[in-house]
Amino acid sequence: MSAKRALITGITGQDGSYLSEYLLAKDYEVHGIVRRVALEDPANRLSRIHHIRQRLKLHAASLESYASIHRVVHEVQPDECYHLAAQSFVSYSFDDEFSTLNANINGTHFLLAALKTLSPGSRFYFAGSSEMFGMAEDVPQNEETRFHPRSSYGISKVAGFHLTRNYREAYGMHASSGILFNHESPRRGFEFVSRKISAGVARILAGRSSDLWLGNLDAQRDWGHAREYVEAMWLMLQQAVPDDYVVATGECHSVREFVERAFSRAGLDYRQYVKTDPELYRPAEINLLRGDARKACRVLGWSPRIGFEELIREMVDEDCRALGVTHSG
Ligand code: GDD
Repeated sequence: MSAKRALITGITGQDGSYLSEYLLAKDYEVHGIVRRVALEDPANRLSRIHHIRQRLKLHAASLESYASIHRVVHEVQPDECYHLAAQSFVSYSFDDEFSTLNANINGTHFLLAALKTLSPGSRFYFAGSSEMFGMAEDVPQNEETRFHPRSSYGISKVAGFHLTRNYREAYGMHASSGILFNHESPRRGFEFVSRKISAGVARILAGRSSDLWLGNLDAQRDWGHAREYVEAMWLMLQQAVPDDYVVATGECHSVREFVERAFSRAGLDYRQYVKTDPELYRPAEINLLRGDARKACRVLGWSPRIGFEELIREMVDEDCRALGVTHSG
């Protein structure tokens, strides 16, 4: 039997890199959509997939161009398509609502439309987000919780979620959404708070910074490990029937707790280094997100194994190692 073919958008990101490793280990032929500029600057833009680069088939295309998506879907005819690419930084979506909405909504729509026309038997995964719940009425949030997004990023994800469901219902496509809560790792981008903190700890230890400026320390999030969350994506596409699933740990912690644990891992007291800047607060914040992933556990057999402490330890240790510093934590 020939290998299954997977097509991943956002393959150069945190989740794309873990998912690629996971699928390669299962003997998939893994294709990825990347921007041409990324292919021209591999040292910086392909760093997360550098170690597996030769085993991947990368296609230059843009999610802003239907013609380019059409071409890649026509060439690859994937068995499974994982749509992870997005403008995913919530803060930035306040600065540029128009491009966030355009890129995220059209990108999802282009991909679904191309699959429907050229490869309707493909199974499709949409990367939904806990940001869709936003100012949720219920805690914890599950598949029944009403959406109340608080940013154009969250709104774009709600639109992508509805597009995905509509292609499933209207055209019978095997299209599923994962509603993933925050998921982090040493591969997280530096703009997100978890990595900003772990990298900040390492820079302070290395003597490269003397403080770390953050925004709202009281926001609470449900933080898991990205390496485990990509397994849930794959499991969704192995089901006979497409559906939507919350993926989360069920535990929530404040940004302050994250900071406190990360600094204490390195033997430091965060109160001596962390400063807050009102400029880093969001115009509309989401105060508390905590997921209820019982459906994923029941139907997919998925549950998280890596806890909050272990996640922070791995991130801090990895950032310290990268800067060549040891800590006493
Ligand atoms: N980025 C950032 N930088 N966030 C800060 C800072 C700071 O200096 N200080 C406090 N925070 C707070 C934010 O206000 C937010 O409440 C929380 O830390 C987490 O922010 P992010 O790490 O940027 O993530 P997010 O929760 O907004 O969104 C992430 O998770 C979603 C759910 O999986 C992103 O990865 C989204 O793309 C994703 O959908």
